[in-house]
Amino acid sequence: MPRGTFITFEGGEGTGKSTQLALLDEWLRTLGHRTVLTREPGGTALAEAVRALLLDPQLAPDGWSEIFLLEAARHDHVERVIRPALAAGAVVLSDRFADSSLVYQGLVRGLGWDEVAALNRLATGGLEPDLTVVLDLDPEAALTRAHRRNSHGAGRESRLDDEPAAFHRAVREGFLELARREPDRVRVVDAAGAPDKVFARIRPVLPEALR
Ligand code: TYD
Repeated sequence: MPRGTFITFEGGEGTGKSTQLALLDEWLRTLGHRTVLTREPGGTALAEAVRALLLDPQLAPDGWSEIFLLEAARHDHVERVIRPALAAGAVVLSDRFADSSLVYQGLVRGLGWDEVAALNRLATGGLEPDLTVVLDLDPEAALTRAHRRNSHGAGRESRLDDEPAAFHRAVREGFLELARREPDRVRVVDAAGAPDKVFARIRPVLPEALR
């Protein structure tokens, strides 16, 4: 089966994932690659509907309800978008994927790393990214970015933007822990500075054919 390349971006709020993904998408297209840019929660009609449920402050599911919703959305996303695109040889770029569940639900919300890893395996059928870029930024700087974004056109979407500082520090620590556990797949990139500076740090960690 022909196999494309699956790259995910992870990190806390305001670390610049979507800006860097847009730059990478443009870069890869210029090189002549076919790309599919997607996100979690989301990426299919069903998964986008689940995203709206998860971000609705009226609903506020507990951790277990949240993880089952996320995994249902993830399964749909993997089966309908990611696997077919990889089979067709595309480079799939996802703004968050299963590692977000390990960190947010497994570690920070306390459901347990192994428990969430098991649910991830069921939802993804064992599909893992070829490369995961963790954008690492001091939460103070990240929140300034997130608030600037929310006060401009993009609107307030994430209820998690309202979490206290300790939460954001735990998320950052969680992604660093992920990188320690999976050093071959997960690469930490310093997300401080202008977008072009950060992108220049991402290029060297890409698979050779995509640099
Ligand atoms: P996202 O839109 O990527 O937020 P941001 O742009 O602010 O980084 O994701 C929405 C929220 O969902 C974000 O706060 C992280 C959370 N989330 C989880 O808690 N678990 C998950 O598995 C995923 C994919 C996202």
